[in-house]
Formats: sequence, C-alpha cells, structure tokens
Amino acid sequence: MSHPVVEERPAAHGDALNLVRAAIAEAAGPEAALQRVVDLLHDRFPPYDWVGIYWVDGSDLVLGPWTGPEATEHTRIPIGTGVCGAAAASGQTEIVRDVAADPRYLACFTSTRSEIVVPIFDGGEVIGEIDIDGSDLDAFDDTDARFLEEIAALLAPLRPRT
Ligand code: SME
Repeated sequence: MSHPVVEERPAAHGDALNLVRAAIAEAAGPEAALQRVVDLLHDRFPPYDWVGIYWVDGSDLVLGPWTGPEATEHTRIPIGTGVCGAAAASGQTEIVRDVAADPRYLACFTSTRSEIVVPIFDGGEVIGEIDIDGSDLDAFDDTDARFLEEIAALLAPLRPRT
C-alpha cells in the first residue's frame, strides 16, 4: 500500500514560528525584533551555532543583527561572492553540508562545518538573507530550509530603510 507524502512541520519549528511572530509583534521596533529573532533561532536550535541576517545594500550584503560565539570579519560581502553571495545572486536557498568541500565558502569561524543561507524576498527581489553556521557536518536539511523560508518571509517587512 502506498502512503501519501505528508509535509509535516516538526513541533519545534511550529513553536518557534509562533514565538517569532509574537516577538515581532511585541518588539519596540524593527531592529529589536530582528535581534530577538536571531536570538530565538540560536537559543532554540542547538545546531544553529551562529545566526545572522545580511541585508542587500547596492551590490553588497551588509551584516545586520547576529548572535553567536564570535563576530565575523565578513560584515560586507559582494553579491556573487561566498555562499552568502551565491544565495543572494540566485535567490535559491543554499545548504552546504561540508564547507570544506565547497570552493565558494568564505571562512568565518574555524568551528564551522556546514552552513545554510536563506534569501529574504520583497516581491520577487532578494533584499537580504538569513545565514546560519553549524559546527557539525550536515547540520541542515530541507526541513530547516522550509522553516527558515517561513521565518524569512516574516523578516522582510523589518528591513532597515537606507
Ligand atoms: N560563510 C559565508 C560568509 C559569512 S560567515 O559564515 C558569517 C559565505 O561563504 O558566504
């Protein structure tokens, strides 16, 4: 007997989505909301070691709020460079199971083994992205991608105006 494929969202992702919606609704402003969201993602998902948001600024990505053990030197990344720049250029979520095997990878932290980058859209245009580094190989899968795409949609209205 064949079983229909049912797309199920893990409970932890559903809970986190609700917390993110509440945090955005209750925050004093967009900057506080964004910081709260990266903190929530980092704190609730142990494989999410470093969580940051980059915003598109002309032909670059510029680092916004982040949470993690250390600061990155990559606070401005040209679109098209690195895994972050590839996702911004293509509009596709990037899952890198082993950063050592991806020639595009721009190293930030010696502990990073895998990475996921999820574009944030306004209309059809990429306006930013969520970047998450993991200390385990293969830390991210399609479930993370779909979850973070839902989070990205919630973040789009919070983009800082330049
Ligand atoms: N690894 C990213 C650069 C950003 S840091 O991970 C925070 C890249 O390859 O684009």
